[in-house]
Amino acid sequence: MTEERSAVDVRIRELLHQMTLTDKIGQLNQIMGAEGRVTEELAHQVRSGLVGSLLNEVDRPTVNELQRIAVEESRLGIPLLVGRDVIHGFRTILPIPLGQAAAWDPDLVRRGARMAAREASQQGVRWTFAPMVDICRDPRWGRVAECLGEDPHLAGKLAAAMVRGFQGEDLARPDSLAACAKHFAGYGASEAGRDYNSTNIPERELRSVHLPPFRAALQAGACTFMTSFCDLDGIPASANRVLMTGILREEWGFDGFVVSDWESIPQLCVHGLCADPREAARTASRAGVDVDMMGRAYLNHLADLVAAGELHEAQIDLMVSRVLRVKLRLGLFEHPYTEAEGSLEEPPPAHLDMAYEAAAKSVVLLKNDHGLLPLSPERSSRIAVIGPLAREPREQLGTWIFDGDPSLSITPLEAIGARMAAASGGGVRPGEVRYVRGLDTTRSRDRTDIPATVDAARWSDVVVLCLGEESVLSGEGHCRTDLSLPGAQEALIRAIRETGTPVVLVVLAGRPLALDGVVDQVDALLMAWHPGTMAGPALADLLFGEIAPSGRLPITFPRVTGQIPIYYGHRMTGRPPSPETFVHMDDLPRGASQHSAGAASYHLDTHYTPLFPFGFGLTYTSFAYRDLRVTPSRIPPDGTVEVSVEVENTGERAGVEVVQLYIRDPVASVTRPVRELKGFRRVPLEAGERRTVTFALQAADLAFPGQDMAPVVEAGLIQVWVGGDSRANLEAQFEVI
Ligand code: BGC
Repeated sequence: MTEERSAVDVRIRELLHQMTLTDKIGQLNQIMGAEGRVTEELAHQVRSGLVGSLLNEVDRPTVNELQRIAVEESRLGIPLLVGRDVIHGFRTILPIPLGQAAAWDPDLVRRGARMAAREASQQGVRWTFAPMVDICRDPRWGRVAECLGEDPHLAGKLAAAMVRGFQGEDLARPDSLAACAKHFAGYGASEAGRDYNSTNIPERELRSVHLPPFRAALQAGACTFMTSFCDLDGIPASANRVLMTGILREEWGFDGFVVSDWESIPQLCVHGLCADPREAARTASRAGVDVDMMGRAYLNHLADLVAAGELHEAQIDLMVSRVLRVKLRLGLFEHPYTEAEGSLEEPPPAHLDMAYEAAAKSVVLLKNDHGLLPLSPERSSRIAVIGPLAREPREQLGTWIFDGDPSLSITPLEAIGARMAAASGGGVRPGEVRYVRGLDTTRSRDRTDIPATVDAARWSDVVVLCLGEESVLSGEGHCRTDLSLPGAQEALIRAIRETGTPVVLVVLAGRPLALDGVVDQVDALLMAWHPGTMAGPALADLLFGEIAPSGRLPITFPRVTGQIPIYYGHRMTGRPPSPETFVHMDDLPRGASQHSAGAASYHLDTHYTPLFPFGFGLTYTSFAYRDLRVTPSRIPPDGTVEVSVEVENTGERAGVEVVQLYIRDPVASVTRPVRELKGFRRVPLEAGERRTVTFALQAADLAFPGQDMAPVVEAGLIQVWVGGDSRANLEAQFEVI
């Protein structure tokens, strides 16, 4: 045990010794602030030691006053812990987490979280309910916006980076936030992509797909975890002892605390697991949930459960010690107050630069026919900017932006306008921009204004369409069954298409959309997610080629909603589809007979491939891969291979390639995914430049839960592919002996 650890433990023991049962239970109770007010009731609860943590109070003087009451007026002077959903920025907003994931850049994610921590901690927040590391393979689920994609390896690397960013080098520094890996576990698999719904995840899949990013967050130091709302195979997460105690603490050695989700302890009664809140408090605390967020079940019932002998006080002590450990590590006892000065009204330029960089790197170029992009103000001196998301400071920010400031936003319209004005200043031809909203919102069905968009399109040299989903269509409790563009947006696109003017579609959305119906109607397509405060400058610079797109999809894009779940790391099946077996229903002859011989695993009414695969993204240049080598060709189960490949920028512009390494274990004691991402790297390359990229792949990275669920690395052949997306076809192999 380190000295620091043992000093903390001594302090915890001393404190526990002085605490009454009521004091202890108070530490396990989390309530909400009163939005910038210190109400009598709140002051009373804090003074009486009935509350250990607060959420949703971000007014600095109020936080300090509540903290003063806790420190000076409560019996033991234990400081409060103030939490907030700081999800993708605080005042300055970064792209939604799914967008950040598209940058495939852990360091970017770390720096973004650091920036958010600096802003939030200025207001007295020292705990964020992030990162959300749920793996989501069903983008109907609104919370896909908050997740880090469909892949456990990518999400794990990014989750770890986000934890490091929030928590900083030293958790005790006043600008560090305690991170919270959520929602443990399985929430991303909510059936039908409907929020709060039940999940049914077989243990092997839980361990191979859903748990690894949590483990990565823990290994990066995440000092709190949050349970999930979902009922996992009959045992809601907030009552799930296997998860909270068996896996998290006994297998993984977690020593921080677990907080429930909002009222998820009393909701155990709604699930039908507990008869009343008292039983819910007993079940959750026994399962390993330390803090009750907003449920009041612990506050109201733990004392009685101890008195009745249904819960040992030693269990309460354990729960309290976990909370105190985090408070001590945060340095709250030494520095309970927020001494920051200055306001967040105007974030420092470095924060806007951060938001710009993150937005720029998160955008994915999905189509670019005839090199329409980048635009040049000389060739395209008249630009029609059309759509309900072109000039919406708030809608470009996305979900979970309680503290975000839309007045800081620079919209695509503003930035394109500025760029065109600058071009005219350069003395070429005056650049002109015409803006037509076209639809009131992304959901509007009213087509009255479509003719005006058609006029603008006819007038222009190129149309930039800003469509997609406004913020409210994704996020918690905001799920959809149809992922095509909502409202009359498809009709709008078709009408503009008929003018013959080239069209760039910029999609701003909280999830992958099913764009099969429109992808052929546009010449270029940029997926921008909800890019945040600096959406406009980032998009304008990408459109005009000041910078080149470098994002890659962290999640598969289906052709149509009915293909969901569709993800690259699926298992093979006994009858995989192939060009030889696939027949679209339009090609079936009249009276075709039905037989299953030779049939394969696909839908009749759409192709079996996705519209855009995981890892995909174009840029303004092209890359070639050659000379894939794996050495040595045989390794023991504790060995490492070096995978190297030469990548060349074969185009005429500089660009960034995201080099991706996939493997498959083709024959194993349990069937394995057709591909698994095991490494990735952003590689900047000048035109014509070649570089050898090397990955170290340990045999241990190939471990999977075997037939008995214990992790195994099995002897046998491993296939390796390296390339620019999950379809990479440059292949090599090695053998584990
Ligand atoms: C969400 C959590 C969030 C909490 C506090 C819940 O509804 O599921 O992710 O951290 O609220 O705002």
